[in-house]
Amino acid sequence: MSSVGTKPKFNLTTHPTYHRLHHIELDQESLKLFFEAVKEINVERIEYVPFERFYLAQQLNEILGGNFQASVRKILHDRNTGGFTIGVQGLTDNLDDYVKFSTALSHLVGVPNFDGMSGKYYARFNVKHSFESDTYLRQAYRRFYLHTDGTFVNEQTDWLIMMKLEEQNAVGGESLLLHLDDWEDLEQFRNHPLANHPYEFTQKGRASKNVEDVVYNTTFYEHNHAPCIRFNDQCSVPYSIEQAKYHRDISQSLEKSPNVKAVSLPVGDLIMLNNTFWLHGRDAFDRNENLYRELLRQRGYFASI
Ligand SMILES: [Fe+2]
Repeated sequence: MSSVGTKPKFNLTTHPTYHRLHHIELDQESLKLFFEAVKEINVERIEYVPFERFYLAQQLNEILGGNFQASVRKILHDRNTGGFTIGVQGLTDNLDDYVKFSTALSHLVGVPNFDGMSGKYYARFNVKHSFESDTYLRQAYRRFYLHTDGTFVNEQTDWLIMMKLEEQNAVGGESLLLHLDDWEDLEQFRNHPLANHPYEFTQKGRASKNVEDVVYNTTFYEHNHAPCIRFNDQCSVPYSIEQAKYHRDISQSLEKSPNVKAVSLPVGDLIMLNNTFWLHGRDAFDRNENLYRELLRQRGYFASI
């Protein structure tokens, strides 16, 4: 919580669907001031000029009383939570404002990685009734299995943002979320002989990803004396039946975990997660020929300064 004088500028509550997440409610007047303060900065400008992205973060932090950045960082680094939702609270439905808002959030905690799918620091993508896709990302009627992001790139992927930009005729398609410490089979899999085996992870050859990296990494690792996971069923490349079975068993265990929560995100809201100990996926949508959803994503590393 923060206040200047006596009026709080933002307020943290427990997320109604997943107890480990926070929801951050912003003071409506402050949020208005933020959009007013950055209205002259267009999206092209922040795409071309990296320091402008930090200016957005600086403005948001100052308008929210100066300690907003510290609060957001604290949540994301806190092993017991590591995630929150936040939104524009109905103040705008301008997609450029959404890009600016999510950019301010990301630059409060670190720096986004280059996104090969868009060739920018963020990517926008849609999900529709029919789409020719080479991954499950845009296939609406399949469950998109739990995974972490960035397993197949040579960059640290500490956090991710998903923001809902638009939605029509969507039933289902909720974000599926699981905090690693809520996974009942964690100990079994992290103590398995293959837990420290360096698997190959790659998306090489998938045109939509536009990433040719081949990365060798273990499935589990430790950070701050706590287990972390790298897992993505679509880009792990096992070399044997045993290696394949280990990842297949992990995926099946994750999918059937009773602790996976389906979290709905209103248009204009975003979710920000610590990617080292949160898994995310997406539930299948109900069939509808007019289904349309557009999301924005950013992934990146934590600032050391
Ligand atoms: Fe993802």
